[in-house]
This record gives sequence, structure tokens and C-alpha cells, in this order.
Amino acid sequence: MVGRYTGPMLELLDQIQSSALGEIEGVDSPEQLERWRIAYLGGSGRVKTAWAGFKDVPKEQKAAVGARFKSLNESLEAALERRRAMLFSSSPGATGPMIDVTEPGVVHSEGIGRRHIISRVRDELVEVFARMGFDVADGPELEDDEHNFIKLNIPPDHPARDPIDNFYIDDPRRGASARMLRSQTSTVQIRVLEQAVKAGWGGDGSVPIKVVAPGRVYRPDTVDATHSFMFHQIEGLYVDRGVAMSDLKTTLLSFARAYFGAEAQVRLRPSFFPFTEPSAEFDMRIRLRSDQPARWMELGGCGMVDPAVFEACGIDPERWTGYAFGFGIERLAMGKYGIPDIRMLFENDVRFLRQL
Ligand code: DAH
Repeated sequence: MVGRYTGPMLELLDQIQSSALGEIEGVDSPEQLERWRIAYLGGSGRVKTAWAGFKDVPKEQKAAVGARFKSLNESLEAALERRRAMLFSSSPGATGPMIDVTEPGVVHSEGIGRRHIISRVRDELVEVFARMGFDVADGPELEDDEHNFIKLNIPPDHPARDPIDNFYIDDPRRGASARMLRSQTSTVQIRVLEQAVKAGWGGDGSVPIKVVAPGRVYRPDTVDATHSFMFHQIEGLYVDRGVAMSDLKTTLLSFARAYFGAEAQVRLRPSFFPFTEPSAEFDMRIRLRSDQPARWMELGGCGMVDPAVFEACGIDPERWTGYAFGFGIERLAMGKYGIPDIRMLFENDVRFLRQL
């Protein structure tokens, strides 16, 4: 018995190799290739079947025969890979995988990003106001005392100017030019009016100014569920002849209904801001969820543009009147989407963001 299988075994393996390599040349579809793979390399394929005879190979021949098995396997695997690469390239000589356009795609939803909820709310707000005839304006986040305070009629001794409550970049004792991160988007009111005047606005033929300005504002507040040292506001400014408080209220009501639904109501509460007279805080009564009663939500400040603001910008307050408003975008987002804590908007935990 000794030595009986060695010769035939090596011969058999040569034979398997040459027929496998010959056959694979004619394979020209993925199905045929799979059939070839099963026939030669499969669990009951020719290589495995031959391997069943290995136990009968004489001991001293086992190393040589084993090595031949190994090289046969490698050469078949390599041929399989080569053929597969060829078949899956769309045309002879083309590189890259062939794409079967009839296959339903695989959706990797976890890999697709989305815009942040604050960006989306900002754009929704701008869109609602655009439909009401407002253009979009913006101004710098790095501002100066002149635009953040002085021209907004906020006098030097006003508590809002306390260095403790603002992110000053320069020493505030420098006066009008002291730089700071803006604490409110009301600065854009000044920027817009200044630019208009510079461009010759204010004469008889001038058209109304009607803008909204969304953007970031900064205040050194202690972070908690409703405060953050950076947040977003959207400012509104309308300047025309004969603008009245009733126009403001109508605008805010239209906005509230457009953004929160027909049930929304608006309430103005007398208040004080240096740059508006009279001034009000405004609340909206909103039913956020059908299973909850409507409730009042405080959204921001508003009022009639103070004549002192017009004068500071070189506009005649006898001829021009206007209203302004400003509200917090995070607050609107929290209200609209039922977000209980402002910090969730800045932590950027994807498990939270994916729900919005
Ligand atoms: N700038 C104010 C703030 O940040 C909000 C505000 C109040 C804006 C009244 C206005 C306004 O335009 O008229 O608290």
C-alpha cells in the first residue's frame, strides 16, 4: 500500500488545475463564475474531494502532496479573483466595479448628515418673513460700542453696558470704538440705516426699509436650561411713512400664525427698551401639541423705533417712522419642536439631532 497514491494524487491535482484554469477562461457571467467556484473550490468541489484521499498518502510524501494542495488552492483562488475583477469591470479595459443600476440601493441613513435644527429654524423664519415682504440683512458679529449701544440710544451709564455683562475685546473705556462681540442683533438696525443713508436714502422717492436679520449674539451668561453664552436672534426693522404700533402687532400676529398655525395668538406687554418708544415684550399663545392646552410663551421685544435712533443715523424722525422687533431663535425652536433644554441645541449629540 505504501506509496500507492502519491503519483496519482499529484497527477490528479495537475489535472484539476489545468481543467479549472482552462474552464475559467470561458466564464463570462457572475453566475457561471459561481458555478465554477462551487465545482472546484466548493465544499464538495473537486479540490475537497481530492483532499479526502490525503489521509492515504504515505507519510514521507505528505509534505510534498500537502504543498501541492496548497499551491493548487492558491492558483485557483487567484484565478477566481482575476476573473471576478474582470467580470465586474463594465467593459474590457475599464477599471472600477460594474454597477448594476437595476439593484435597489442600500440606504446608509446613519451616514447622511443633515442641517442643524437651528439653521433650519433660521431659514424657516426668514422664509416666513420673506413672504411678508422682508429682505434679509446682516452685520458683523464683532461689533463696536457705537453700533451695539451708542446709536441704539443706550447711554454710557446704562447697566446693559457693564463689562461684566458683555464680551469686550477692547477696554470699554475706549468709548465708541471699543470692540465687542455683539450682544444683540439690534446692531443690524443701525448698520442697515447707516448704509441706506450713505446710499442717499431718505428723500421723497425713498422706498420703505423692510428687513429681517438673523444671527449669533453673545452674552457671558451662566449656562443653564434656558441660557447660553451664545445664541441666535432674528431682528426685524420696518421704516416707512406713518408706521403705527398696530402695523407691528398685525405683522407679529401674521408671523405667529404662519409659523405656528392658525391658532396662535399674540400678546404685547408694555416694557422698556432704549431704542424703541413705546416698547413691548411679546408673547405668543401656542398649542404645541394636540394633547396639550395652548400656553403663553415669551419670545422677544419690540416697539416703535425711537426718534433718537433715527437721529443718530441721520434720518429725519419727523418724516420717517418705524417698528422693530427681535426674538430668540433657540426659544422659537424649543417652542416649535418641544425641546426642553437649550443645551441640547449646542451639545450636538447625534442621538438628539437625528430626532429633529
Ligand atoms: N435687542 C433686544 C434684546 O436683545 C430685543 C429687542 C427689543 C429687539 C426691542 C428689538 C426691539 O428690535 O424693538 O433683548
